Amino acid sequence: MNQVYLELRNVTKEFTSPFEEERIVAVNKVDLKINKGEMITLLGPSGCGKTTTLRMIGGFEDVTEGEIYLDGVKINDIPANKRETIMVFQSYALFPHMNIYQNISYGLEIKGLPKQEIKEKVRKILELIGLKGMENRPVAQISGGQQQRVALARAIVNEPKVLLFDEPLSNLDAKLRVKMRTEIRKLQKKLDITSIYVTHDQEEAMSLSDKIVVMNLGRIEQLGTPEEIYAQPRNKFVADFIGKQTNFLNGKVIESSNSEVDVEVWNKMFTFKGFPEFSKGDEVMLVVRPEMIDLLPESKGVFSGEVKLVTYLGLEVIYEVESNKENLTVQISNPLKHGIHKEGEKVSLGFDTKNIYLIKT
Ligand SMILES: Nc1ncnc2c1ncn2[C@@H]1O[C@H](COP(=O)(O)OP(=O)(O)OP(=O)(O)O)[C@@H](O)[C@H]1O
Ligand SMILES: [Mg+2]
Repeated sequence: MNQVYLELRNVTKEFTSPFEEERIVAVNKVDLKINKGEMITLLGPSGCGKTTTLRMIGGFEDVTEGEIYLDGVKINDIPANKRETIMVFQSYALFPHMNIYQNISYGLEIKGLPKQEIKEKVRKILELIGLKGMENRPVAQISGGQQQRVALARAIVNEPKVLLFDEPLSNLDAKLRVKMRTEIRKLQKKLDITSIYVTHDQEEAMSLSDKIVVMNLGRIEQLGTPEEIYAQPRNKFVADFIGKQTNFLNGKVIESSNSEVDVEVWNKMFTFKGFPEFSKGDEVMLVVRPEMIDLLPESKGVFSGEVKLVTYLGLEVIYEVESNKENLTVQISNPLKHGIHKEGEKVSLGFDTKNIYLIKT
């Protein structure tokens, strides 16, 4: 249980740009521990170093500094084809002139496994991914979702210690992406295979992962469960990157103890449980997710406001509400039940401090 299986210690990757001869630090002193059977997602904006991190683990990129350990063995100098990691690419990289069977069995044939054993392994995998009976179909003649499954099968059949996914679903349409990510997760759990998944789609990351690594500019900003990074973001970057249209309210700590802090926001006092790291006088920021705010009749809530914009989305309504000269985003689910406010309407805002997280400014 919970034994560290893959570990990155102080891993750095520098590239030298061929034109300007400047150094690009793509990955900067990354420490990461992944347990056996865990599914971890690297999430972050374009260029933050996700693919480079994955490629170093897979052996497709040299490590400039630091060490990578797999199952207790340092693998820095082991070439990609000798590592027990397998990468599943965005483009699938299937052999177009081969059929499904040949694509899946290819790696095993290269290894020189007996024909009967190969047949048995491929049969099992085909059943697992729901493509039984289709083994003779050329991969050029199957759908994108089926190609993705073949790519997955081809990786799994080799029984790697770690599966590495680099945005494997980004070529698929939205509906299929959701379906495939669920399938990947089920398969990963069933096989109990340690996996690292790269995406910049936060919903994909949330739905797939045991833990999410939020990256920015080559560094890890936060590592945590999906709930942790959403509800307890460590800093403004994470709070802003995760979730939609997060509100940030400035506050000042007026009193603090080991168990709670009193914070003044817009001339009102609020008590937050926890946060022993803050002391009297600290400037803080309240991370207020749009769904944490209630819209109440005038004077019922803590701050008064006026509805400036109403966006009806069926499942929910997104309001822009002006309060204390700032625009806040408020999301109210189930408008059929709660009714819809109108633009120009005077309202008031309410929230429960237990749903609000504090970060340093
Ligand atoms: N071969 C290379 N030579 C020089 N710079 C590179 C090379 N590969 C990546 N980089 C740079 O390293 C940084 C990290 O790139 P990386 O591909 O890891 O980002 P990413 O997080 O995967 O982004 P995306 O979401 O766009 O795929 C970027 O600034 C990129 O331009
Ligand atoms: Mg990438």
